[in-house]
Amino acid sequence: MRFETWSKSITTLDVDCLIVGVFEENELTEEARRIDHAAGGRLGKLIARGDFPGRAGETLLLADLPGLAARRVLLTGLGARKSFGRKPWRKACSSAIGALARTGVKSAAVALERPDAEALDDYYYGRGVAELTVSALYRINDLKSGKKPKAAALSQVLAGPVTRTSAAAVERGLAHGEALARAANVQRDLGNLPGNICTPRYLAEQARGLARRHRSLRVRVLDEPAMRREKMGCLLAVAQGSNEPPRLIVIEHRGGKSGAAPVVLVGKGVTFDSGGISLKPGADMDEMKYDMSGAAAVIASLSFAAEVKLPLNVVGIVGAVENMPDGKAIKPGDIVTSSSGQTVEILNTDAEGRLVLSDALHYARRFKPAAIIDMATLTGACVIALGHHHSGAFGNDEALVHELVEAGVRADDRAWPLPLTEEYTEQLKSNFADFANIGGRDGGAITAAAFLAKFTRGMSWAHLDIAGTAWQSGAHKGSTGRPTPLLADFLLRRAKL
Ligand code: BES
Ligand code: MN
Ligand code: ZN
Repeated sequence: MRFETWSKSITTLDVDCLIVGVFEENELTEEARRIDHAAGGRLGKLIARGDFPGRAGETLLLADLPGLAARRVLLTGLGARKSFGRKPWRKACSSAIGALARTGVKSAAVALERPDAEALDDYYYGRGVAELTVSALYRINDLKSGKKPKAAALSQVLAGPVTRTSAAAVERGLAHGEALARAANVQRDLGNLPGNICTPRYLAEQARGLARRHRSLRVRVLDEPAMRREKMGCLLAVAQGSNEPPRLIVIEHRGGKSGAAPVVLVGKGVTFDSGGISLKPGADMDEMKYDMSGAAAVIASLSFAAEVKLPLNVVGIVGAVENMPDGKAIKPGDIVTSSSGQTVEILNTDAEGRLVLSDALHYARRFKPAAIIDMATLTGACVIALGHHHSGAFGNDEALVHELVEAGVRADDRAWPLPLTEEYTEQLKSNFADFANIGGRDGGAITAAAFLAKFTRGMSWAHLDIAGTAWQSGAHKGSTGRPTPLLADFLLRRAKL
């Protein structure tokens, strides 16, 4: 995909299609008015007849209007003018690209009305155009044996109009937006793969492949004996019921000053979560192949860091295991010792993500992180609390949690803070070990975070529970690529890019 900017008069743009906006109030936007004028009033007439109501996300393709260098015009609904802002703009942009992907259009110029600069400045405008384009063209790496649908013809998108003063910011946004969406697509590809293909070893191979393509990346993979030497008793406890050997994957991006404290990203990589001996019910159990979405987001974020040559040191750590019931599997009541030395009574083998993360978080200490952020499809309770709209945000450093929440707003990949006070920690009390791996049904997303906090003391730490946001069910069943956009925005800010 080629992304560029456009600046000359819209009627002279030599592209296959112009994308212009129409408000619900039957109101042509400025660029649409210019086209209407050149085309002898055809747009105005069409709208006056009520043929295009301008509802958000609706599109209508018109061909060969007179007076234009462009071959087609795609009218795109922007909704009501009074509620116009970043969200409706993003929705319109995304549906426009989606509609063009089903045509022979090879080149398009985005000329949609923009919300005011406070809602969408030049940089985020460019970033949005590229991000939404790459995202709309994503196709699931399906394993259907029939003929594959043809790839979209679209190969060039121009964002504009830009002026001499705004062009650089829009171009920077286009570059970042493309890299961001490509990274989110890396996460989606991994998340959509089934558990029999996307195993812990497969994730390790993907990380190695990434490092072969990017010189800034170094990968180290710990196998079972290496993890045993690190005394990772919690992670290994989850792995022991599976025939798939576990992996601890460490990816380093060296983009900052050597010796500068890195941002460390830690991901839950449960490639399939059956629940183990505390077996899950059968309905929708297939969705537990997404239980490695945190890991996929870590791999995606490191690919993003490498692609934009982020001037920041970033370390990604993935704990990759499969959670299965077996004669060798852990049982409720078992007590294991984590690499931090703390003992854990496993009261429910389905609370496995926190066990995996505990050893991965402890391993991260050796990097002396400036900040450590973990992401995990950790609890069904978080889905109950926040639905599918916000990821849950927790941490021991309020400023860091705030930073992530703000990044989520800018990236349109939102997170919402939940409290993490000592009462929740008390719910984890055990008579037999330092603490248990569950704290009862009440406040389940928070007690899970309180468990993780036991392993991150002294580090500036935040945790994102992405159980409700990393995937969607229904007709569009699949991985969403979240929270990669949030993380990319966070990293860009930290790097002052
Ligand atoms: N992977 C699940 C959490 C999950 C649930 C993710 C639904 C996405 C959708 C996690 O390992 C789990 O099973 N958590 C348990 C914890 C409980 C046993 C304390 C849960 O949420 O039920
Ligand atoms: Mn589980
Ligand atoms: Zn799980």
